[in-house]
Amino acid sequence: MQNIVAGNWKMNLTSDAAESLLKDIVAKATGVSCQFIICPPFPYLSIAKDLIDGHPNIALGAQNCSNKTSGAFTGEVSCEMLKSSGVEYVIIGHSERRAYYNETHELIGEKLMRALENELIPIFCCGENLSERKAGSHFDVVSSQVKESIFDFLSKDQISKIIFAYEPVWAIGTGETASPDQAEEVHQHLRQCLIENIGDDGNQIPILYGGSCKPGNAKDLFQQKNIDGGLIGGASLKADDFVQIGRSF
Ligand code: PGA
Repeated sequence: MQNIVAGNWKMNLTSDAAESLLKDIVAKATGVSCQFIICPPFPYLSIAKDLIDGHPNIALGAQNCSNKTSGAFTGEVSCEMLKSSGVEYVIIGHSERRAYYNETHELIGEKLMRALENELIPIFCCGENLSERKAGSHFDVVSSQVKESIFDFLSKDQISKIIFAYEPVWAIGTGETASPDQAEEVHQHLRQCLIENIGDDGNQIPILYGGSCKPGNAKDLFQQKNIDGGLIGGASLKADDFVQIGRSF
């Protein structure tokens, strides 16, 4: 399976800063064997598209998409728009969108549908918050997130096109990382859920880890059997750190 390192820039950087960060990443990522995916804010997608055009292992992703197809939905960005702008991937169900924009399982399921209809590859995020972790309910939380947004909505064929990302909310942007064992047991659980639902093809689906992943801990995380790469927030804003994470397989 191809190892993947995706950078989620979130709502950071001016246009100039985005351009210079990406130029730096493009220069440094050449020759690194993993697949990099860069997810800048919407206004920078077309600049980013031009800068990475033709690069063998850097692709473009968006951080969000609309659950609607087109029409009078002010401020929304459709999957068709993303596709026609050269975007290949889209992050869906990030915990920040679930928490701050009240995204429900059902809405996330609709966004997954729109993405797949437009041949975008969704990066579907799931993960428990701190109180759920303390209560020991992390497996149940992740199971219900995948069931209610994915297994209840999508066909086997559609599910096999999705990239999964386990992102424990208590580790995102906090500097606190899940230990490799803590991460692996949830990745293994996710793998099992996938195999139960779509059979052996579940073994081919990438499952990324996200949550304060950085050069110092990436190697230990990526060595785990069911961790196929990372979804990187803070460390994706530094070219050296981001590319170093890509060298950690
Ligand atoms: P972080 O963010 O690496 O800054 O913890 C990860 C994410 O939110 O995707």
